[in-house]
Amino acid sequence: MRMKALVTGGAGFIGSQLALWLEKEGHTVTVMDDFFSADSRNLTGFSGRILRQDVSQDFECSEKFDSIFHQAAITDPRYPTDDEVFKRNVNGFKNILSLAKKHGSKVVYASTAGVYGNGPVPMKEDQVKECVTAYALSKLEMERMAKENEGQIRLVGLRYFNVFGPHEIHKGRPASMIYHLWKQMREGKRPRLFQWGEQIRDFIYVKDVVKANLCALTAAPGVYNVGTGVGTSFNQLVTYLNEAMGTGMEPEYFEMPFDGKTYQHHTLADIETAKKHLHFEADWKMSEAVKDYVGFLDANVLIP
Ligand SMILES: NC(=O)c1ccc[n+]([C@@H]2O[C@H](COP(=O)([O-])OP(=O)(O)OC[C@H]3O[C@@H](n4cnc5c(N)ncnc54)[C@H](O)[C@@H]3O)[C@@H](O)[C@H]2O)c1
Repeated sequence: MRMKALVTGGAGFIGSQLALWLEKEGHTVTVMDDFFSADSRNLTGFSGRILRQDVSQDFECSEKFDSIFHQAAITDPRYPTDDEVFKRNVNGFKNILSLAKKHGSKVVYASTAGVYGNGPVPMKEDQVKECVTAYALSKLEMERMAKENEGQIRLVGLRYFNVFGPHEIHKGRPASMIYHLWKQMREGKRPRLFQWGEQIRDFIYVKDVVKANLCALTAAPGVYNVGTGVGTSFNQLVTYLNEAMGTGMEPEYFEMPFDGKTYQHHTLADIETAKKHLHFEADWKMSEAVKDYVGFLDANVLIP
């Protein structure tokens, strides 16, 4: 069924992929973004409305949306001012909840695997949370607010694991390891990894994250992991990139610059609940997703 959808943060990485996909599927899509960490080129080909608005400030919106996909947030876990991250992310969600309540819209919102911190793996939705950043705390607070509004709004939260793929370059340092390693290797430099490349991430391709958002429209309200259930070490990542790029580069290791407590060493999603209640399972295998992404980067990014 055709719907009217609002995508907040729609000029960012995941939001733009989602907005373009929804539009391609025939839905009427509006993007709301204040371009805090966005790139207008991400919306090339998008013909819907683009509202330049900070969602964390009071705003009027008379338009009734069937669904709101809330992606807008400060997304850098190492953003310098914790207060700003918390306030902006939490106030933005508060305003989105009010808008949804006013018009009876469904809400799908982005949370993060960051809420698990360095907790046990595979990470299950109901395990004890160990937020190690203000960013993760802001997302956990959003989940609490969602719970408080259960019964009044249809809400589904998605705890994304490590997302990578086209449209992430504007993020700079917080863009995925895959992008940064590709760039180093394309420039003829050895890929730089923290010693000894054994850190593990549940990397998920952005095309699967778009699919998870669509699954959320018909899922039971709740919070679900959006990961693949497969961990990839940084060393393995270099192997996938070498395969995709036709190179044979060895990693160069350097000392981890971060405090070990604020760094997630191992993330891995338990995907059973998402399979059962979100009806979501990732389609893309890591090796194939890396190949697909490298194809995109080679075609679209100029390396001098
Ligand atoms: N990329 C990942 O690996 C990942 C992992 C876990 C969760 N997430 C979550 O997914 C969502 C999308 O992240 P992303 O990776 O696309 O990052 P991104 O930085 O590319 O996108 C965020 C977008 O929100 C916009 N924005 C920020 N604050 C805003 C505000 N107050 N009002 C309006 N617009 C605002 C930015 O300009 C940007 O376009 C975020 O909520 C993020 O926390 C992402």
